[in-house]
Amino acid sequence: PVLVVDFGAQYAQLIARRVREAGVYSELIPHTATAAEVAERNPVGIILSGGPSSVYEPGAPTLDPGVLELGIPTLGICYGFQVMAQQLGGEVANTGLREYGATDATLAGDGGVLLGGQPAEQNVWMSHGDQVAKAPEGFDVLASTAATPVAAFGNAERNLYGVQWHPEVKHSDHGQDVLENFLHKAAGLPADWNSGNVIAEQVEKIRAQVGSGRVICGLSGGVDSAVAAALVHKAVGDQLVCIFVDHGLLRKNEREQVEQDYVASTGVRLVTIDARDQFLSALAGVSDPEQKRKIIGREFIRTFEQAEAALVAEAAADGEPIRFLVQGTLYPDVVESGGGAGTANIKSHHNVGGLPEDLQFELVEPLRTLFKDEVRAIGRELGLPEVIVGRQPFPGPGLGIRIVGEVTADRLAILQDADAIAREELTKAGLDDEIWQCPVVLLADVRSVGVQGDGRTYGHPIVLRPVSSEDAMTADWSRLPYDVLSKISNRITNEVREVNRVVLDVTSKPPGTIEWE
Ligand code: XMP
Repeated sequence: PVLVVDFGAQYAQLIARRVREAGVYSELIPHTATAAEVAERNPVGIILSGGPSSVYEPGAPTLDPGVLELGIPTLGICYGFQVMAQQLGGEVANTGLREYGATDATLAGDGGVLLGGQPAEQNVWMSHGDQVAKAPEGFDVLASTAATPVAAFGNAERNLYGVQWHPEVKHSDHGQDVLENFLHKAAGLPADWNSGNVIAEQVEKIRAQVGSGRVICGLSGGVDSAVAAALVHKAVGDQLVCIFVDHGLLRKNEREQVEQDYVASTGVRLVTIDARDQFLSALAGVSDPEQKRKIIGREFIRTFEQAEAALVAEAAADGEPIRFLVQGTLYPDVVESGGGAGTANIKSHHNVGGLPEDLQFELVEPLRTLFKDEVRAIGRELGLPEVIVGRQPFPGPGLGIRIVGEVTADRLAILQDADAIAREELTKAGLDDEIWQCPVVLLADVRSVGVQGDGRTYGHPIVLRPVSSEDAMTADWSRLPYDVLSKISNRITNEVREVNRVVLDVTSKPPGTIEWE
């Protein structure tokens, strides 16, 4: 792999994704890894990420100097660029000049291997206080800006390069070209990592792990479990059985999409548990969000475990017990729970259907090395329906936490209709890629006066909460075109009974969370 050394900024995962977009497999590694540990991973290239610190600060993250002596093509970015300069005998200084945001960079000469072929003037995204005052001996300066004389450098002989700006963010005009020049030209790596290869590799691995054993998987209706199960099915066919719990808090037609479209395209064996009444009675009279979440979580686990126990018993009677459980764990979860890097980025994973402590199954996690967009690409390659592969993130507790107030069958039906209209119009407007997700919320405990036809109405408001985000940890409200908002509003107030008002949530996260409850 290409190893991305994580200096603790939010950029490291993004760099790894961009490298993979260039067709080269990459993994994250903490900056505390020693040169020997780095060498053990057989990297074909190394990228040093940005970081929040100054190289002079006491306790600033460092790099084993041996890493730069391994003879592996290396690119330093921002903080990583400064670490490189410092370790190789250049100078890093705090000149009091800061650059933040869009900045003009000018290439020096032809820009060398790293920047060759790019326009002499380009817009780059900067975020730094310190700067490289002098390039190390043997290094050519490849670019500069008004405030930063050494904005990029390179030593073609040693295959060591660095840039002060962030090529991994889309605001840098030729950012991806910088990464691709480094990977393909400097390091000579072919672009041969793609979804087809990943599928072939995972299928092999799953077969090796599972053998003739039986496997079980809980489908949530979301992308991750759907793709994970499809991969396992491709590998071991009907040794896999899936369980899908319909708790009644799903979106409109979601159950049919799983039972019909998904099953038709994968051939997966599916057991659906209809637990709608059970969930509604458990939620009766409850308005408090935390209480709702707890009840839904508890009922879910209870239902899932019953279904699972029945299948386990059946399989055991059959002589071939169920030994494996499929989980749609993704790479960011692995990294964030400390499995991949030293990032102190603690996130609480609130998954309904969280695993019991005394897990009796061995886990099969075919998506452990993948990012979400890669999982979608694999799903498409496997022929899964777009309604599932293109699906927005959806919380485990479902529409239960998008009804402010008590959850009832009537209210669920209202929200399902409004949500279906909003999603349909967003898709029609081609906005699915621009927004991260758009929760639609029913303010069931609020009423407002309206006029529809000739009469006064006293109905409920619907809130649209479109957000853009990279990872749901932070988010901004999406600036949707007015005509799309207008269309959604018109259709919801015309087509959904009891709704006489549509409002737009214009709060970023923080301070607002994405969901209302
Ligand atoms: P918040 O509301 O915390 O949401 O900003 C961040 C992301 O997580 C999703 N979310 C959940 N996902 N179980 C889940 O699987 C949950 O209980 C849950 N609560 C929120 C939310 O949709 C958003 O993508």
